[in-house]
Amino acid sequence: NVLILDFGSQYTQLIARRVRELNIFCEIFPFNHFPDDLSSYKAVILSGSPYSVRAEDAPHPDLSQIRGKMPLLAVCYGAQYLAHFNGGEVAPSNIREYGRANLSFIKDDEAFFEEVALNSQVWMSHSDTIKQMPTNGVLLASTKDVANAAYRIEGEKTYAIQFHPEVYHSTDGKQILENFLVKIAEVPQNFTPNAFVEDCVKELKEKVKDDKVVLGLSGGVDSTVAAVLLNKAIGKNLYCIFVNNGLLRKNEFENVLHQYKDMGLNVKGVDASERFLSALDGIEEPEAKRKAIGRVFIEVFDDEAHRIEDVKWLAQGTIYPDVIESVSVKGPSATIKSHHNVGGLPDFMKLQIVEPLRMLFKDEVRRVGKTLGIDPELLGRHPFPGPGLSIRILGAITPEKVRILQEVDAVFINGLKEHGLYDKVWQAGAILLPVNSVGVMGDERTYEKVVALRAVESTDGMTADWVHLPYDFLMKISNEIINKVKGVNRVVYDISSKPPATIEWE
Ligand code: XMP
Repeated sequence: NVLILDFGSQYTQLIARRVRELNIFCEIFPFNHFPDDLSSYKAVILSGSPYSVRAEDAPHPDLSQIRGKMPLLAVCYGAQYLAHFNGGEVAPSNIREYGRANLSFIKDDEAFFEEVALNSQVWMSHSDTIKQMPTNGVLLASTKDVANAAYRIEGEKTYAIQFHPEVYHSTDGKQILENFLVKIAEVPQNFTPNAFVEDCVKELKEKVKDDKVVLGLSGGVDSTVAAVLLNKAIGKNLYCIFVNNGLLRKNEFENVLHQYKDMGLNVKGVDASERFLSALDGIEEPEAKRKAIGRVFIEVFDDEAHRIEDVKWLAQGTIYPDVIESVSVKGPSATIKSHHNVGGLPDFMKLQIVEPLRMLFKDEVRRVGKTLGIDPELLGRHPFPGPGLSIRILGAITPEKVRILQEVDAVFINGLKEHGLYDKVWQAGAILLPVNSVGVMGDERTYEKVVALRAVESTDGMTADWVHLPYDFLMKISNEIINKVKGVNRVVYDISSKPPATIEWE
């Protein structure tokens, strides 16, 4: 188990992901709230930071229980922090050192740089520089502009690097992390999906015992994997509820419910479409739509949960990025859209919470799902927003608009699948615009709806690029939509990236 102390760098999560790629378990803690008991940790990594170590308000945690007592890797700010307070010198650098650089010197015979070639590319991002190494510092590597790019401390397993091994542009970054964690710190590489499933099922059994657990299934990857894990641990004491809010994709509710039953889950499908649609009646404003849907969802879910006698636990598919966000150095970042499924649980239900995936990243959830034998098609599904099609129907929602959008979306998504494009796209969907346009069909003039198609590439939804779908494909889909879907006479393709646009239109 590896402890990562976060000093607020934008790259801290990336460090954790690289460590996990080595099948090593790690946890991120803010620098000002790390565990008192460090006995279960085999190594510590200090992250970068937007601060200068010389600033008074910069993070200056007490590392006396860590440094020299266990293997320590200090990255960027961490490297400067060790130097600054231990006899070295950190000063503003003349040039801002940002971007690619190459290791022009690497000390021979150092386990830390094993299998890393001279001139290996590294990624720099700092404006202070280490002018002088700390007491007992041994220089390990330099670049053209950064003399003290890497050092260790004689007599300790303390290593410090000015560059960012976690960023892909550091070509041998993963190798360096492996050298440190596996060769130097001797951390076991035993965090595999199989091991996770085994431990998790055992822990769930111990925690929940014979109690009943209720879980809301959404059709998405996270809630499904959480349900299958719990099912493995407690079987029929897991009560799953799958709500149809009337804003799902075409036939989604029936198909997914069927799939869940085939997987042996104890699931109840609740069709509350009318309740949602009537709560949304006349609402145009996007945030108001989200709030209405969130509220009705909680009501419906609560009604259903009350039908389960003596239920003690609420299970959720929360994953690690949500957990990190809520305990991060900076606190939860400003809400741009109120994603109701993050953190907003019905507190009046007074249930204890169980979150089997709270330590996993999304790609790890998929791998665990695969180990559990979940259908790869289900695991590879695009993300779909909780408020569903409601935020893709711009303006007020009517059942007729839902029908139109479901048809359009189905043509687009099935088309992507048929043309082998679905898995190349991170998320795709259609948007129903609140305008009519003039068209001509046969001898008749039409005045009908316009739909926009959207397909993006992304890794986490935070940034996204529009996908360059083949023109021939777009042509075919556009024809099919206009010919098949009554009420639509024009199709456009969204060519905006995020930022400055968002993925959804509302
Ligand atoms: P944006 O539009 O903010 O979307 O670029 C980023 C990702 O979040 C999804 N999204 C939502 N998911 N409830 C959700 O569960 C919401 O209210 C919501 N709004 C956006 C969006 O589909 C994309 O994957």
